[in-house]
Amino acid sequence: MPELRGAVILAAGHGTRMKTALPKVLHPVGGQSMFSWAVALAREVNAALICAVVSDKSGAVGKAAASELGGGAVAVQHPPQGTGDAVKCARDVLDGFEGNVVTLYGDTPLIQAQTIERVFAALDGDVSIAVLGFEAAEPSAYGRLILADDGTLDCIVEAKDANDEQKAVTLCNSGVMAASGDLLFSILDEVTNDNANGEYYLTDVVALARKRGLKVVAVSADEQELMGVNSQEELATAEALFQMRRRSEWLQNGVRLTAPDTVYASWDTHIASGCVIDPFVVFGPGVSLGEGTHVRSFSHLEGAVAEENVAIGPYARLRPGTELGAHAKVGNFVETKKAKIGDGAKISHLSYIGDSIIGADVNIGAGTITCNYDGFDKHTTTIGAGAFVGSNSSLVAPVRVGAGAVIGSGSVITRDVPDDALGVARTRQRDIEGWAETFRTRKKRT
Ligand code: UD1
Ligand code: MG
Repeated sequence: MPELRGAVILAAGHGTRMKTALPKVLHPVGGQSMFSWAVALAREVNAALICAVVSDKSGAVGKAAASELGGGAVAVQHPPQGTGDAVKCARDVLDGFEGNVVTLYGDTPLIQAQTIERVFAALDGDVSIAVLGFEAAEPSAYGRLILADDGTLDCIVEAKDANDEQKAVTLCNSGVMAASGDLLFSILDEVTNDNANGEYYLTDVVALARKRGLKVVAVSADEQELMGVNSQEELATAEALFQMRRRSEWLQNGVRLTAPDTVYASWDTHIASGCVIDPFVVFGPGVSLGEGTHVRSFSHLEGAVAEENVAIGPYARLRPGTELGAHAKVGNFVETKKAKIGDGAKISHLSYIGDSIIGADVNIGAGTITCNYDGFDKHTTTIGAGAFVGSNSSLVAPVRVGAGAVIGSGSVITRDVPDDALGVARTRQRDIEGWAETFRTRKKRT
């Protein structure tokens, strides 16, 4: 039988060191909150039961947790009295759960699933508890993992409670701990708040387990992957590490980045091999690019899906709901929103295309605007395949331009244009012979 796994995500602390009204675990890394990273990690290691511990069910974290996990999976810790107390609050949700449980802190967003797999794997045989740690270049505020002579884990000492000898230890605690649920909760009952912070530390579980004669081990991983975020500076560091990780994944997968350091990813950005991303491109959430797509500099994309060999930018702004067919082109100073753009269609310059369905091989001239909003509602513009929209046209939605139709430049189109028709809606040109010369002569005389 596969191992039954549960996860407890600690998210009840406010994170005062962030100095913001926004609770710490809701701060984003790669466009996704640190709390969501923890949930995604728990899911990736197939936790059958995931419990989030929050300080207030109706607060921002409580609401985020309920929407991701369902209200029944949210436990309340009020007031927050430390990480050990927090895990204890998950007891009711995990009542009767007969598997191994891993603790995940809501402020360590870079941990990878294969690392958690190694922690669970360490529980094999006679090991009762496994703790994930790392060698820190500057251990500062992290809890120290103190090893026994036989190399097993003896105890964890928080920085504030450590003596000089313990402070010199560089092996640090990540917060990830795995044990059978039964054992974890039974030891947590023995944890006291007799320490520098007056809190109930999860980390005390290690020494208490040793007292029972149980074997505890440390599993180690890379410091950058396990870093905890407690300040804005650390958040910025975590973001930078995430970006570096994504860029190198893309490069390894055959994406060409001419200046990788200037390209920004979100947690779910998908770029197929053979794509080329020029310098200074930002991917917000929800972007997926098909093979051979080229994004030129200074483009900003979010909620946009492109099929293969699409040309985007420079200076393109693709907003949510943009779908680009194969070989489509969206050029400079073009903004799209909720726009389905057909194969081979071209919107090359200076346009706003919103709430639109554009057929294959349509050509949208420079400066074309879909007037989609009347101040109250949004309306759709539909343009049939092969149509040609002359430059500087306004398409006042709801409106349909037929397949193969041509719109005269500068038109304000308010009615549907039939297939293959010419739609022109502008005043007719009038030439008055000699007018200009007469005007100049008169002006010079006065
Ligand atoms: C904690 C560890 C430390 C470790 C470090 C790794 C303890 C006692 N210390 O310290 O050994 O090196 O993480 O990053 O565990 N939380 C609650 N309820 C509480 C307190 C905290 O849910 O009462 C949550 C927080 O929201 C946060 C996580 O637990 O997501 C960790 O809390 P934090 O205050 O950041 O602990 P650290 O001081 O970083
Ligand atoms: Mg922390």
